[in-house]
Amino acid sequence: MKLSIRDLLMQAPVVPVIQISDSRTAVPLARALAQGGLKVLEVVLRTPESLAAIRNIIAEVDDVVVGAGTVLNAEHFSSAEEAGCQFVVSPGLTEAMLKTAAQSSMAFLPGVATASDLMRGLDSGLDTFKFFPAETSGGAAALKALSGPFQSAKFCPTGGINLNNMQQYLSLNSVLTVGGSWLNPAELVVAEDWAGISELARHTCERVSNSSSAQGAR
Ligand code: 3PG
Repeated sequence: MKLSIRDLLMQAPVVPVIQISDSRTAVPLARALAQGGLKVLEVVLRTPESLAAIRNIIAEVDDVVVGAGTVLNAEHFSSAEEAGCQFVVSPGLTEAMLKTAAQSSMAFLPGVATASDLMRGLDSGLDTFKFFPAETSGGAAALKALSGPFQSAKFCPTGGINLNNMQQYLSLNSVLTVGGSWLNPAELVVAEDWAGISELARHTCERVSNSSSAQGAR
Protein backbone atom coordinates (compact mmCIF):
# COMPACT_ATOMS: atom_id res chain seq x y z
CA MET A 1 0.00 0.00 0.00
CA LYS A 2 1.24 3.51 -0.80
CA LEU A 3 2.59 5.19 2.31
CA SER A 4 0.99 8.58 2.96
CA ILE A 5 3.56 11.35 3.13
CA ARG A 6 1.57 12.94 5.94
CA ASP A 7 1.65 9.77 8.08
CA LEU A 8 5.33 9.35 7.36
CA LEU A 9 6.24 12.90 8.38
CA MET A 10 4.15 12.65 11.53
CA GLN A 11 6.52 9.88 12.70
CA ALA A 12 9.57 12.11 12.21
CA PRO A 13 10.63 14.54 14.98
CA VAL A 14 12.76 16.18 12.27
CA VAL A 15 14.05 14.97 8.90
CA PRO A 16 17.81 14.99 8.29
CA VAL A 17 18.65 16.18 4.77
CA ILE A 18 21.77 14.26 3.82
CA GLN A 19 24.23 14.95 1.02
CA ILE A 20 26.71 12.11 0.55
CA SER A 21 30.09 12.94 -0.95
CA ASP A 22 31.95 9.88 0.29
CA SER A 23 29.89 6.71 -0.08
CA ARG A 24 31.69 5.05 2.84
CA THR A 25 30.03 7.49 5.23
CA ALA A 26 26.43 6.72 4.22
CA VAL A 27 25.77 3.64 6.34
CA PRO A 28 27.47 4.76 9.58
CA LEU A 29 25.85 8.19 9.25
CA ALA A 30 22.36 6.72 8.79
CA ARG A 31 22.95 4.32 11.67
CA ALA A 32 24.10 7.17 13.93
CA LEU A 33 21.02 9.25 13.11
CA ALA A 34 18.70 6.27 13.67
CA GLN A 35 20.37 5.52 17.01
CA GLY A 36 19.73 9.12 18.00
CA GLY A 37 16.01 8.67 17.16
CA LEU A 38 15.86 10.01 13.59
CA LYS A 39 14.63 7.27 11.31
CA VAL A 40 13.09 9.13 8.39
CA LEU A 41 16.02 10.20 6.22
CA GLU A 42 16.20 12.25 3.02
CA VAL A 43 19.26 11.65 0.85
CA VAL A 44 19.59 14.33 -1.81
CA LEU A 45 20.37 13.34 -5.40
CA ARG A 46 23.10 15.95 -5.78
CA THR A 47 26.22 13.80 -5.94
CA PRO A 48 27.26 10.78 -8.04
CA GLU A 49 27.34 8.73 -4.82
CA SER A 50 23.75 9.41 -3.80
CA LEU A 51 21.93 6.41 -5.33
CA ALA A 52 24.52 3.88 -4.15
CA ALA A 53 24.33 5.50 -0.72
CA ILE A 54 20.54 5.08 -0.66
CA ARG A 55 20.83 1.41 -1.68
CA ASN A 56 23.44 0.70 0.97
CA ILE A 57 21.48 2.40 3.73
CA ILE A 58 18.34 0.45 2.82
CA ALA A 59 20.27 -2.83 2.73
CA GLU A 60 22.28 -2.33 5.90
CA VAL A 61 20.43 -0.10 8.35
CA ASP A 62 17.40 -1.47 10.19
CA ASP A 63 14.27 0.51 10.86
CA VAL A 64 14.94 3.53 8.68
CA VAL A 65 12.64 5.00 6.05
CA VAL A 66 14.73 6.40 3.22
CA GLY A 67 13.63 8.97 0.68
CA ALA A 68 15.36 10.78 -2.16
CA GLY A 69 15.56 14.57 -2.14
CA THR A 70 16.29 17.07 -4.91
CA VAL A 71 14.09 15.03 -7.26
CA LEU A 72 13.66 17.37 -10.21
CA ASN A 73 12.20 15.21 -12.99
CA ALA A 74 10.75 11.84 -14.01
CA GLU A 75 14.20 10.36 -14.50
CA HIS A 76 15.22 11.15 -10.92
CA PHE A 77 11.88 9.75 -9.81
CA SER A 78 12.50 6.36 -11.44
CA SER A 79 16.09 6.21 -10.16
CA ALA A 80 14.78 6.79 -6.64
CA GLU A 81 12.15 4.08 -7.09
CA GLU A 82 14.70 1.60 -8.44
CA ALA A 83 17.00 2.31 -5.50
CA GLY A 84 14.18 1.33 -3.12
CA CYS A 85 13.14 4.73 -1.74
CA GLN A 86 9.83 4.99 0.05
CA PHE A 87 9.33 8.67 -0.62
CA VAL A 88 10.67 11.48 -2.77
CA VAL A 89 11.08 15.16 -2.04
CA SER A 90 11.27 17.90 -4.65
CA PRO A 91 12.17 21.55 -4.13
CA GLY A 92 9.25 22.48 -6.41
CA LEU A 93 6.10 21.27 -8.09
CA THR A 94 5.74 20.83 -11.85
CA GLU A 95 3.00 19.24 -13.98
CA ALA A 96 5.44 16.52 -15.08
CA MET A 97 6.32 15.70 -11.47
CA LEU A 98 2.67 15.60 -10.43
CA LYS A 99 1.90 13.17 -13.26
CA THR A 100 4.86 10.93 -12.42
CA ALA A 101 4.02 10.96 -8.71
CA ALA A 102 0.42 9.92 -9.37
CA GLN A 103 1.65 6.77 -11.12
CA SER A 104 4.31 5.94 -8.55
CA SER A 105 4.12 3.77 -5.45
CA MET A 106 6.31 6.23 -3.55
CA ALA A 107 4.97 9.02 -1.36
CA PHE A 108 5.64 12.50 -2.75
CA LEU A 109 6.54 15.73 -0.94
CA PRO A 110 6.69 18.61 -3.43
CA GLY A 111 8.04 22.04 -2.55
CA VAL A 112 5.92 25.18 -2.45
CA ALA A 113 6.73 28.78 -1.60
CA THR A 114 3.62 30.66 -2.78
CA ALA A 115 -0.17 30.48 -2.67
CA SER A 116 -0.28 29.60 -6.39
CA ASP A 117 2.13 26.68 -5.92
CA LEU A 118 -0.04 25.45 -3.10
CA MET A 119 -3.26 25.78 -5.11
CA ARG A 120 -1.74 23.75 -7.93
CA GLY A 121 -0.80 21.00 -5.48
CA LEU A 122 -4.19 21.01 -3.76
CA ASP A 123 -5.91 20.86 -7.17
CA SER A 124 -3.96 17.67 -7.84
CA GLY A 125 -5.21 16.07 -4.65
CA LEU A 126 -2.08 16.62 -2.54
CA ASP A 127 -2.36 17.90 1.01
CA THR A 128 1.20 17.91 2.38
CA PHE A 129 4.07 20.07 1.16
CA LYS A 130 7.66 21.06 1.74
CA PHE A 131 7.82 24.82 2.42
CA PHE A 132 11.05 25.74 0.65
CA PRO A 133 13.31 27.62 0.99
CA ALA A 134 11.75 28.33 4.36
CA GLU A 135 13.95 31.04 5.87
CA THR A 136 14.45 33.11 2.73
CA SER A 137 10.75 32.80 1.79
CA GLY A 138 9.77 34.72 4.89
CA GLY A 139 10.24 32.09 7.59
CA ALA A 140 7.63 30.96 10.07
CA ALA A 141 5.67 34.23 9.79
CA ALA A 142 5.22 33.72 6.04
CA LEU A 143 4.20 30.10 6.51
CA LYS A 144 1.67 31.11 9.16
CA ALA A 145 0.14 33.64 6.78
CA LEU A 146 0.17 31.16 3.89
CA SER A 147 -1.54 28.52 6.04
CA GLY A 148 -4.45 30.87 6.82
CA PRO A 149 -6.47 30.37 3.61
CA PHE A 150 -5.42 26.71 3.24
CA GLN A 151 -6.54 25.07 6.47
CA SER A 152 -6.19 21.52 5.15
CA ALA A 153 -2.57 21.83 4.04
CA LYS A 154 0.29 20.59 6.24
CA PHE A 155 3.97 21.36 5.83
CA CYS A 156 7.53 20.24 6.35
CA PRO A 157 9.57 23.47 6.10
CA THR A 158 13.22 23.17 5.07
CA GLY A 159 15.95 25.55 4.02
CA GLY A 160 17.87 27.49 6.65
CA ILE A 161 16.34 25.66 9.62
CA ASN A 162 18.42 24.61 12.61
CA LEU A 163 18.23 23.87 16.31
CA ASN A 164 17.87 27.58 17.13
CA ASN A 165 14.94 28.44 14.87
CA MET A 166 13.10 25.10 14.42
CA GLN A 167 10.74 25.87 17.28
CA GLN A 168 9.27 28.87 15.43
CA TYR A 169 8.03 26.44 12.79
CA LEU A 170 7.15 23.50 15.02
CA SER A 171 4.83 25.71 17.06
CA LEU A 172 2.56 26.25 14.02
CA ASN A 173 -0.45 23.91 13.74
CA SER A 174 0.18 23.48 10.04
CA VAL A 175 3.71 22.11 10.57
CA LEU A 176 4.18 18.34 10.92
CA THR A 177 7.97 18.39 11.18
CA VAL A 178 10.95 20.29 9.78
CA GLY A 179 13.92 19.16 7.70
CA GLY A 180 17.51 20.26 7.44
CA SER A 181 21.15 19.49 6.95
CA TRP A 182 22.21 20.77 10.37
CA LEU A 183 21.82 17.23 11.74
CA ASN A 184 24.81 15.95 9.79
CA PRO A 185 27.39 18.74 9.94
CA ALA A 186 30.27 18.25 7.51
CA GLU A 187 32.88 18.54 10.25
CA LEU A 188 31.38 15.63 12.22
CA VAL A 189 30.93 13.50 9.07
CA VAL A 190 34.51 14.12 7.89
CA ALA A 191 35.81 13.31 11.38
CA GLU A 192 33.59 10.18 11.37
CA ASP A 193 32.28 11.32 14.73
CA TRP A 194 29.22 9.06 14.66
CA ALA A 195 28.72 9.33 18.43
CA GLY A 196 28.62 13.12 18.04
CA ILE A 197 25.97 12.81 15.31
CA SER A 198 23.87 10.44 17.45
CA GLU A 199 24.14 12.90 20.33
CA LEU A 200 23.03 15.82 18.13
CA ALA A 201 20.07 13.76 16.89
CA ARG A 202 19.14 12.74 20.43
CA HIS A 203 19.39 16.32 21.69
CA THR A 204 17.21 17.53 18.80
CA CYS A 205 14.57 14.83 19.51
CA GLU A 206 14.49 15.86 23.17
CA ARG A 207 13.98 19.51 22.25
CA VAL A 208 11.13 18.57 19.88
CA SER A 209 9.51 16.34 22.43
CA ASN A 210 9.78 18.87 25.28
CA SER A 211 8.30 21.60 23.14
CA SER A 212 5.40 19.47 21.93
CA SER A 213 4.51 18.41 25.45
CA ALA A 214 4.68 22.06 26.54
CA GLN A 215 2.24 23.10 23.81
CA GLY A 216 0.06 19.94 23.73
CA ALA A 217 0.07 17.38 20.92
CA ARG A 218 0.01 18.85 17.43
C1 3PG B 1 17.73 21.42 0.82
O1 3PG B 1 17.08 20.77 0.02
O2 3PG B 1 18.77 22.04 0.52
C2 3PG B 1 17.22 21.40 2.20
O3 3PG B 1 16.15 22.21 2.29
C3 3PG B 1 18.24 21.63 3.27
O4 3PG B 1 18.44 22.96 3.51
P1 3PG B 1 19.51 23.39 4.62
O5 3PG B 1 20.85 22.90 4.16
O6 3PG B 1 19.41 24.88 4.67
O7 3PG B 1 19.08 22.73 5.90
